[in-house]
Amino acid sequence: MPRPSREEWKTYNSVFDQHTNRLLFKLSSQGHFDELVTIIGPGKEAVVFIARKTDGTTVAVKIYRLETANFSKMYDYLRVDPRLPKLGKTVVGDPRRRTIFQWTEREFRNLLLARTAGIRAPMPIAHSHNVLIMEFIGEDLEPAPLLKHSTPEDPEAFAQRCFELLGRWAASGMVHGDLSEYNILNDNEDPVFIDFSHGAPLKAPNSIDLLRRDVENLCNYFRKHGVKRDPDDVMKDMLAHTSS
Ligand SMILES: Nc1ncnc2c1ncn2[C@@H]1O[C@H](COP(=O)(O)OP(=O)(O)OP(=O)(O)O)[C@@H](O)[C@H]1O
Ligand SMILES: [Mg+2]
Repeated sequence: MPRPSREEWKTYNSVFDQHTNRLLFKLSSQGHFDELVTIIGPGKEAVVFIARKTDGTTVAVKIYRLETANFSKMYDYLRVDPRLPKLGKTVVGDPRRRTIFQWTEREFRNLLLARTAGIRAPMPIAHSHNVLIMEFIGEDLEPAPLLKHSTPEDPEAFAQRCFELLGRWAASGMVHGDLSEYNILNDNEDPVFIDFSHGAPLKAPNSIDLLRRDVENLCNYFRKHGVKRDPDDVMKDMLAHTSS
């Protein structure tokens, strides 16, 4: 993958505000990475970079935008997560920033939980404020493609594996909340779930609706690729194996 041109970096300048630059400098001096090499994914809320370490290995660095993030939506999702302290008015600091920092921290925490539950997901390495460092999924500087852009050779087997991972996540009492072909990587024909910031315990008030949406997204995607799964049956199966 070629390095981004000066023009391309400029496009992502919005993530490199003074606060984030200082943070990146700190994380880099702690040895988490040496330099940002290239951009993998410019999302709405975050930009993901590949960074190289001095030993030549790579990590993924996800930077949530401080200026353009959708704070109120994030806040609404965080508010109902029973694990998190309330983002009350009494805490010092800019409430919008606090929301993004908690969003970032939640993704880190969910990734850890996912790994513990045996889900294939990037290993989280560190987080600070609006920056999350995790395992890079790919080879050399080539990220594993999104399922959306890389149809599996054996859709039935791939679907089976995705439902297995989703079931395992539900059995551990959690919902992903933003699962679709846009947040699953096809890593050499093996699914890797990413983008865990929406993840919440199943006992949170809106979680069953989120699970239903995840299941429907997967069923819709795989139906287009010749694999039939009934969302009602999948839901029943998932919920039968959870304790909530
Ligand atoms: N650990 C990783 N290894 C390789 N590629 C990754 C990794 N994490 C993310 N990506 C790539 O970066 C893109 C954006 O990442 P992600 O989905 O986490 O962010 P996003 O969609 O911008 O997030 P959000 O929905 O929270 O704004 C993904 O579509 C994927 O292509
Ligand atoms: Mg995403």
